[in-house]
Amino acid sequence: MKKNLANEQRHAGASAIPGRIRLWDLPVRIFHWTLTVVVTIAIISAELDDDLMEIHGKAGITIIGLVVFRLIWGIIGSTHARFANFVPGLSDIRSYMKGRWKNVGHNPIGALSVLALLLLLAAQAGTGLFANDDIDFTGPLANLVETTLSDQLTGIHHLLANFLLGLIALHIIAIGFYFFVKKDNLIKPMITGWKEVKPEMLPQATTPSGFRGSPAAFVIACLIALAVAGVVSGAARHTETVAAKVSACTFSVAQRSA
Ligand code: HEM
Ligand code: HEM
Repeated sequence: MKKNLANEQRHAGASAIPGRIRLWDLPVRIFHWTLTVVVTIAIISAELDDDLMEIHGKAGITIIGLVVFRLIWGIIGSTHARFANFVPGLSDIRSYMKGRWKNVGHNPIGALSVLALLLLLAAQAGTGLFANDDIDFTGPLANLVETTLSDQLTGIHHLLANFLLGLIALHIIAIGFYFFVKKDNLIKPMITGWKEVKPEMLPQATTPSGFRGSPAAFVIACLIALAVAGVVSGAARHTETVAAKVSACTFSVAQRSA
């Protein structure tokens, strides 16, 4: 019986140290800190100087890749990374509000803010693809739409940036609140992956269905993210243009030699 529980806990990411579990896997941690750096670059480059718009666009497209990666990892990643394990129902929210929620991972309100952050980032970067700065920088897909629509999407891009900044501020304040007031350090698990949990939470933390996430799933998520980032950055269109030029060239050479 004891041996079974130990196996179960190991399988779900429990540590040899009692009460310690593997909460955030490496992909989630790399995703989070890369996202933090790239979002900071996107915001600073947009605000600072028109000359930095190329960097802004590249940061934005990287963010699209990161968000796509996280959405897929939320389906095929490890236990605590999966949306199915943290997207809350009404009953979770109610029991959290009454102080009765006992589990590990994103708490119900935290989970809602994580979803809002991911959605807002996708919308922000998505509108950026069609935006223009009235000078010489346009998003890579801006020429697919009328100028008026591009202008409207630019307006939405500006508007959403305020909501995004507000949500990021709230996110950092909430983490600080947990740290200073609730004496719960959420940052450490986001760096090391490990979290100390109270014994009464351990059964939920180490369910038999616990899963670490496989390298194959990681590669699939990375490839899809790269493909989407490549397509929206216009790389696919460049490839088509190059292919069209090569075939036109081949055709004219063939005609000349005929
Ligand atoms: C641009 C700034 C940031 C953005 C866009 C951002 C976004 C996110 C997202 C999307 C998650 C969910 C992680 C996942 O499940 O994949 C998350 C979680 C988290 N973030 Fe951030 N973050 C930012 C800055 C920070 C900073 C500066 C800190 C540290 C002070 C931080 C600490 C955390 C922690 C501790 C969690 C886990 C919360 C929990 O245990 O429920 N974040 N963040
Ligand atoms: C989540 C990612 C992104 C964030 C946080 C972000 C943020 C911002 C912000 C704050 C501004 C306003 C700067 C100002 O005050 O003038 C801006 C402008 C702009 N962004 Fe983004 N952006 C993101 C993604 C993108 C992407 C992917 C593109 C296109 C490749 C893009 C293209 C533009 C353009 C063309 C403008 C200029 C609009 C103007 O000058 O009126 N953005 N962005």
